[in-house]
Amino acid sequence: MLSYSVYKLIHFIGILMVFLAYGGLIVRSIYAPSDAQLRRLGAITSGIGLVLILLGGFGLQARLGIGWPGWFVTKFLIWVVLGGLIVLINRKPQMSQYLWWGTLVLGALASMLAVVKPF
Ligand code: HEM
Repeated sequence: MLSYSVYKLIHFIGILMVFLAYGGLIVRSIYAPSDAQLRRLGAITSGIGLVLILLGGFGLQARLGIGWPGWFVTKFLIWVVLGGLIVLINRKPQMSQYLWWGTLVLGALASMLAVVKPF
């Protein structure tokens, strides 16, 4: 088993990958809707990122020995929604404004939950 710090690093690298890729994919859906290569790059980067976020998240949970507090379950649900967003990002360029800010709000919420642990 890896250390708390290494799981956190994995968690953060995953986060960077998802948010970098989603930004690129949102722009692509508007300016390069026929660019399949860019779409593939975004799908691979965000896909690996989502796996790393989850791996890091459950590793951190195990290291902390916290079980399933409300904030942790909520973060998991945010992760599910975040992963599903790629479908809208790729297919609904007319929603890009909402997807751009919505993705950021979801990320901020997930970060806040880990820091504040309100429930
Ligand atoms: C969806 C995107 C996510 C973002 C942006 C995010 C963000 C963060 C951040 C910024 C921290 C560091 C908090 C700190 O050092 O005080 C953190 C820690 C943590 N995250 Fe996430 N997270 C996400 C998803 C998840 C998921 C899906 C899980 C669970 C499967 C999870 C579980 C945890 C745990 C257990 C910690 C450690 C909290 C602690 O050290 O007290 N996170 N996350």
